[in-house]
Amino acid sequence: MKHAGKIALVTGGSRGIGKAISMRLAEDGADIILNYKKDSATAAETAREIEALGRKTWVFQADLKDDKAIRGLCKSIKQEVGQLDILVHNAAFGTMGNILRMGLYSWNAAMAINVTALLRMTQHLAPMLGDRNGHIIGLSSIGADMTFSEYACIGVSKAALESLCRYLAFELAPLGIHCNAVSAGPIKTRALDWFQYPHAVDNYSEVKSPLSRVGRPKDLAGIVSFLCTPDADWIVGQTLRADGGISMGENFLDWLEGDEKTEAKAKQATEWESAVERARK
Ligand SMILES: NC(=O)c1ccc[n+]([C@@H]2O[C@H](COP(=O)([O-])OP(=O)(O)OC[C@H]3O[C@@H](n4cnc5c(N)ncnc54)[C@H](OP(=O)(O)O)[C@@H]3O)[C@@H](O)[C@H]2O)c1
Repeated sequence: MKHAGKIALVTGGSRGIGKAISMRLAEDGADIILNYKKDSATAAETAREIEALGRKTWVFQADLKDDKAIRGLCKSIKQEVGQLDILVHNAAFGTMGNILRMGLYSWNAAMAINVTALLRMTQHLAPMLGDRNGHIIGLSSIGADMTFSEYACIGVSKAALESLCRYLAFELAPLGIHCNAVSAGPIKTRALDWFQYPHAVDNYSEVKSPLSRVGRPKDLAGIVSFLCTPDADWIVGQTLRADGGISMGENFLDWLEGDEKTEAKAKQATEWESAVERARK
């Protein structure tokens, strides 16, 4: 097991993508420190699932918007856990909406939780991570460098997170700490419910991904686990895009309408089938 004997902190590890990452790191041998904000029942249930895999868990509530809570979390990790190999900053906040109506509270909270919290946790925990040749992963979004409706608040903060991850990689490499970011496309979690039309996001993924489906939390978990292994140590300060290929390009036929689109798609499918048949011969 590639993470046997390691201990990983996953912020927002109680549900969604954070839960999938926690479970995968646990399956790969790590004991898990779960952080959550308010849903203690879900965090406890996730801890039980991890323990059923034979791993140890610590569950710490801390609202990462609050610097005092971050200090408390890090102090608990130092005093009650005493070891840290992996820090996955997965918890996030953002308000969906028109940029002209973006309130200062939402903007500042997104920057605090998505960016500043990683800086502050790293400042407190770098000595522990350095002792263990540790890994830091920031969970980002393709909305950092692509623009999506309603997404400015999160997108801008994720761009800052990616930049922070590069600087952490650059400055902490001499301490033996590796840092990268993973940039995800849409993933089916409760977070998508904040979009005004969540089904439009599903449709977008199904049309744009050559895999013709929406992302699942598990799609990211193995990637994060790999980035925390020595096999990935030559990947330094990168943002790894994991979006099912939705940002790769266009099938122009998707821009046709009505019967013309149906006919063109059917023709394209037939051409593909005959090309595959020819290639088989
Ligand atoms: N879902 C997507 O389509 C998508 C796409 C790209 C990137 N991402 C990124 O992936 C990460 C996880 O997203 P998700 O969809 O899994 O989110 P989610 O389902 O909404 O889960 C959020 C988790 O973060 C915790 N959390 C929220 N605010 C917090 C705070 N202030 N302090 C500490 N913990 C807090 C929550 O705890 P409680 O339950 O206790 O509140 C929960 O465990 C985020 O960084 C997100 O930006 C997601």
